[in-house]
Amino acid sequence: MKNAGTQSINTKRLFLRRITIDDAQAMFNNWACNAEVTKYMRWKAHRDIETTKFVINLWLKEYDSNDVYRWGIVYKENGELIGAIDVVSPDKVTQSAQIGYCLSKMYWNKGIMTESLKEVINYLFSKTDIKKTESWHHIDNQASGKVMLKSGMQFKEIKKDGDKDNNGNLCTIAVYELLKAL
Ligand SMILES: CC(C)(COP(=O)(O)OP(=O)(O)OC[C@H]1O[C@@H](n2cnc3c(N)ncnc32)[C@H](O)[C@@H]1OP(=O)(O)O)[C@@H](O)C(=O)NCCC(=O)NCCS
Repeated sequence: MKNAGTQSINTKRLFLRRITIDDAQAMFNNWACNAEVTKYMRWKAHRDIETTKFVINLWLKEYDSNDVYRWGIVYKENGELIGAIDVVSPDKVTQSAQIGYCLSKMYWNKGIMTESLKEVINYLFSKTDIKKTESWHHIDNQASGKVMLKSGMQFKEIKKDGDKDNNGNLCTIAVYELLKAL
């Protein structure tokens, strides 16, 4: 399967690029430390910046593979790193990719994740052999569902016990997908 790895993407307001260890402070301050931001993520808010550094160091090793897609989201107006978007697990058998994302609360409701997700989907469909993107959210995380719909994905199904929350409890999820137009 053709892969492209994490190359930079330039959008109207954003610059999507690889995350580096120098981003640890911004990532910790802007989203990873905030339990409100991580409420519907699989992971809990980081207690200290050492945790953020540990996570970034794992990611740095993964960048060696060209089937790893993980971007930091830079807000061009102020150069701040404000979030991240990634492919959770590209599947070469089904040629599909699941996309996840997270954004600093200070920047919610400005259309930023929609702008990011649209461009990431476009990148995957134009530069790789991925033919289907899929995302899901905890049933209560309505804002995330809006992002998926506004990015062109279609609602597929509700799955009871479809995932685990960051307390380890099974939760109901809403699943969305988008097929590449042939
Ligand atoms: C979910 C998240 C990524 C959305 O990012 P964003 O940049 O604020 O999204 P956008 O501005 O592109 O769109 C958000 C939409 O949800 C709507 N919205 C916000 N809060 C909402 C709520 N509680 N209920 C319903 N809709 C809501 C907004 O009005 C907007 O829709 P609109 O454009 O029709 O007005 C961001 O809130 C976030 O990072 N949350 C924490 C991490 C997370 O939940 N990640 C996703 C896990 S599946």
